Amino acid sequence: PIEFTLALIKPDAYPAKKDDILQRIRAEGFTIVKESEVHFSADVAKEFYKEHVGKPFYETLVGWMSSAPIYAMVLSKGGAIKAWRALAGPTNSEKARETSPTSIRAMYGKDGSENAVHGSDSLESAKREIGVVFGHDFAASIEPPV
Ligand code: CMP
Repeated sequence: PIEFTLALIKPDAYPAKKDDILQRIRAEGFTIVKESEVHFSADVAKEFYKEHVGKPFYETLVGWMSSAPIYAMVLSKGGAIKAWRALAGPTNSEKARETSPTSIRAMYGKDGSENAVHGSDSLESAKREIGVVFGHDFAASIEPPV
């Protein structure tokens, strides 16, 4: 089924690698339904990453993701959630270079923290994350009809 997912180009890859990453996204047949540069406040970054509250990397992650502009996109195609995570590659960019050398994180990410892009991991988190970044009215408006 057609799905929507949230993709972010993080501060280590934006703006320098934006054009290359968008080219990869289009080549894989995703439709970019919505896109915008955004600059997370610390509060929005905390809300976005709330599932990671208490983890050792949480404070650094929130600080980093609110330190500079990023590029946010809603991507759509059949099976978009899994497809975007596959194109992004493993979370850790150094591991990605060993196992998935053509993935976006292998090509443009630095390490286990600064990894170029984000992708929603489920239908529920895609809906939540699209709401946090683009507003809950927009998130509700693109829900596939039942
Ligand atoms: P992301 O897919 O956006 O989800 C959580 C982010 O936390 C992850 O990408 C990394 O940028 C960052 N992070 C930092 N350290 C870790 C870690 N040990 N495990 C997972 N994610 C981490």
